Amino acid sequence: MPDLILDGRALRVAEGTSVAAALALGGDGCSRTSVSGQRRAPLCGMGICQECRVTIDGRRRLACQTQCRDGMQVETRP
Ligand code: FES
Repeated sequence: MPDLILDGRALRVAEGTSVAAALALGGDGCSRTSVSGQRRAPLCGMGICQECRVTIDGRRRLACQTQCRDGMQVETRP
């Protein structure tokens, strides 16, 4: 069971959980904040819409296309 840090809070998820699912399990379900200040959330779940962009270990990634790993740092806020 991977342990990750989501916006500074510890979260344990089941093996194989996507980061998009972890956002719903341990956060507000949102992945980022738009330039106009609106919170955005995963939409398509299959790598098309790009709404699930998050920062994982300092790099921008698609939450729906990334599985949680032990020690992963996920940030949804600027
Ligand atoms: S939810 Fe659409 S690209 Fe990830």
